[in-house]
Amino acid sequence: MKSTALPPVARSPGELRAEVAALRAAGASVALVPTMGSLHAGHLALVRRAAEMADKVVVSIFVNPTQFAPHEDFDSYPRHFENDRASLAAEGLTHLVYYPGVGDMYPEGFATQVSVSGVSEGLCATTRPHFFDGVALVVAKLLNQCRPDVALFGEKDFQQLQVIRRLVADLDIGVRIEGVPIVREPDGLALSSRNAYLTEEQRARAAHLPRVLARVAGRVAMGEDVGIACREGIDELFEAGFDKVDYLEVRREADLSPVLGRRAPDQTHRPARVLAAAHLGRTRLIDNMPVQ
Ligand code: PAJ
Repeated sequence: MKSTALPPVARSPGELRAEVAALRAAGASVALVPTMGSLHAGHLALVRRAAEMADKVVVSIFVNPTQFAPHEDFDSYPRHFENDRASLAAEGLTHLVYYPGVGDMYPEGFATQVSVSGVSEGLCATTRPHFFDGVALVVAKLLNQCRPDVALFGEKDFQQLQVIRRLVADLDIGVRIEGVPIVREPDGLALSSRNAYLTEEQRARAAHLPRVLARVAGRVAMGEDVGIACREGIDELFEAGFDKVDYLEVRREADLSPVLGRRAPDQTHRPARVLAAAHLGRTRLIDNMPVQ
């Protein structure tokens, strides 16, 4: 049932457990949507899908310090908790917001690290080597704290999604991981909390990223050489005004292993994606598209 009342907030692992136990006692299944807040339509698509998959939806909002390097934007990352809670209320599908403090998640003496190899190497990890360890750690904690039946993540962060799938399989965490397609602006730009950093001019240029990815995906699907298509895609990003391109590569979806040379047309049973990260000024954008 939809309700537009502000959803209740659990502020510590103990409060979360008590609230989730009460939902479970009533026989409900539970979905968790982990976020760092500053919610937009991409996050809300996860919430809607969660409500289709479980009786009760828990949304966590936690800007996780362990996935930011010291020089990154942890301090300036947009934080709008009351707006986020109101957006979730307006959607009417969230039964509980989990909003722990940094001290609740990482109390004094915290010493454990979680590291997933293989899928978390290359791509985003090349320029953000700390990132996936931080994500794996916080997601393992959130899944243990909430113990949902299903947890939802966006394909926007495709490498993150595959790291989380690996983590859950390897640690036997009994949860279903559901990937949700990317939500885009009308001009194709993938919604992201970091789009708020873009100036008007950068915002106009940003839409070239999905266009270039679509062109590269189309060329690879037609059997063109992957290396050439990617190199020309990178040139196009620079021509469109991007200041730096961290990567533009084609990888297999399942294990993110590289696709090189020409992709034979009989490879459709091994889905592949074009993935890229590129900078406009100080803002780093990521995006990806399936090769179809
Ligand atoms: P955040 O960037 O807030 O994203 C939360 C979830 O929303 C992620 O699963 C992300 O892939 C998804 N998402 C963001 N933009 C989207 C879009 N345009 N379309 C579809 N889904 C989108 O990703 C994180 O937070 C963190 O790393 C987290 C997993 C919460 C761990 O701290």
